[in-house]
Amino acid sequence: MINFKQKIAEEIAKEISMSQEEIYGYIEVPTDEKMGDFSFPCFKLAKSLKKAPQMIAEELKQKLTFEEEIIQKIEVVNGYLNFYIEPKAFVATTLTELSEKQEDYGKSKEGNGKNIVIDYSAPNIAKPFHIGHLRSTVIGGAIYKIYGFLGYHCTGVNHLGDYGTQFGKLIEGYKRWGEEYQIEENPIDELTKIYVRINNLCKEDETVLEACRDNFKKLEEGDPYCVEIWNKFRELSLKEFQKVYDLLQITFDSWNGEAFYSDKMSEVVEILKEKNLLKSSEGAMVVDLSEKEMPPCIIEKTNGSTTYATRDLAAILYRARTYDFYKALYVTSYEQILHFKQVFETAKNLNLDEKYTDNLVHIPFGMIQLKEGKMSTREGNVIKLEDLLNEAISRVMKIMEEKNPNLEKKEEIAKKIGIGAVIFNDLYNSRIKDEIFDWDTMLNFNGETGPYMQYIYVRTKSLLEKAEYMPNIEDINFAKLEDEASIRVVKLLYGFQDILKQAAEKYEPYILARYLIRLAQSFSSFYNENKILGEEKQVQDARLYLTYSVGLVLKVGANLLGIQMPDRM
Ligand code: ARG
Repeated sequence: MINFKQKIAEEIAKEISMSQEEIYGYIEVPTDEKMGDFSFPCFKLAKSLKKAPQMIAEELKQKLTFEEEIIQKIEVVNGYLNFYIEPKAFVATTLTELSEKQEDYGKSKEGNGKNIVIDYSAPNIAKPFHIGHLRSTVIGGAIYKIYGFLGYHCTGVNHLGDYGTQFGKLIEGYKRWGEEYQIEENPIDELTKIYVRINNLCKEDETVLEACRDNFKKLEEGDPYCVEIWNKFRELSLKEFQKVYDLLQITFDSWNGEAFYSDKMSEVVEILKEKNLLKSSEGAMVVDLSEKEMPPCIIEKTNGSTTYATRDLAAILYRARTYDFYKALYVTSYEQILHFKQVFETAKNLNLDEKYTDNLVHIPFGMIQLKEGKMSTREGNVIKLEDLLNEAISRVMKIMEEKNPNLEKKEEIAKKIGIGAVIFNDLYNSRIKDEIFDWDTMLNFNGETGPYMQYIYVRTKSLLEKAEYMPNIEDINFAKLEDEASIRVVKLLYGFQDILKQAAEKYEPYILARYLIRLAQSFSSFYNENKILGEEKQVQDARLYLTYSVGLVLKVGANLLGIQMPDRM
């Protein structure tokens, strides 16, 4: 595909003393379409050339020549050099590239040879997989796919919360009342009940609390009975979680949770001790971070057991060695911002190369709020993700029963739309914003939603079906797409890869989600303003090809967000 920005940078570099790369970096895409497709600000040159930007721009405009017919006109506005690309060149290069690459359109090799570790989802064993984990799963899943598409080698890690003192409590509760509960049938709910009950008992009776601590210690030491029960909890919980992952179609490359690091934490403690960084504080062992204006990072609790932070430190050592990562990403809610700051700061002392410790990135996100009010995470009042996803599907089923009762394979389609709506809703805003969870908004087929995007995709499909043929790219007369609506669609298609790069660089899937809505909307205008079928053959072919291209990019983009496209709806 022709890189127009590159071409412009090349030509400007011939006329001024500034490197092509630097020029490339300065060239902008104006937000106002009327200001051209690309714009070069001449202010940067004013000082070295001792001339007014406006004059520099005027002179450059006279000197620049482009070999191919790619520039329609160049205009000078307030010290900016605005370039207007020949529409036909946009159309030709974009559609040709699309026809060559098909589902690989937008793929890049920029990440080749670079490893990315993405830590996401990470629910806690024996606790509900709640809506808070939805965001981590969905945001992490999208980032994983986008990076993979850009050529990076990604390892998705589900750092399960399967360790810690709470397991000592669960074991104690199970020992006492295990038989009273239907753990096999309904593991998470029943284990939660046991957990609440034992917690209450601990508050009343200090000796019970003591027994719980003892259990965790035994677990850490490999006591067969404790390990067996713990394993049972873990397996039953994972089976439950898998239902959610199946609905979301999410997979992981590694399931190494916190427990995996049980025998790897002593190294962390040793290194920190050796460096004299472990201070005792109220009986606990901590790393002082007061110089960085943070509370201390707790490495060992008063009773000698390890912490969430210690396990994360051990995981950093392990991931650096095992995956030789270019970047290690962590997707959790913003409640853990301080935790990761402390851990990343402490990790600088683990004798790891800076290329690792400088590339630990926390990707925080905001809370989910129900439209009716705050979503409580307190026991008994948690909305389970599996129920929520199933509700999305049944709500879509109901809508379809009304709108299109004769549709075949309704269940399958409802699943794609329902799940897609939840995912899209989660990814449509900058991740740090709190998300409002409202069924009517996310299931609105005319809104800026997943279902709308899917609906437009299905439109492109049915148009091509009606035409009963697919034009050949060799036969397309690119000049036939000359109206404003068509060109707008083409320019959006042209920019797809750049959107993916921005989304990856900022760890912001919403950049892709919003792009897909813009693409769907601009296709809708194109469709309303132009007759597609029944036009003169060349015009019809060109418009059909554009229709096909939009469908293709909508699908590729949606899949990268983790959303499946239905063929009809
Ligand atoms: N299990 C944790 C939670 O539910 C999230 C773990 C995130 N990953 C990590 N390496 N700390 O809050």
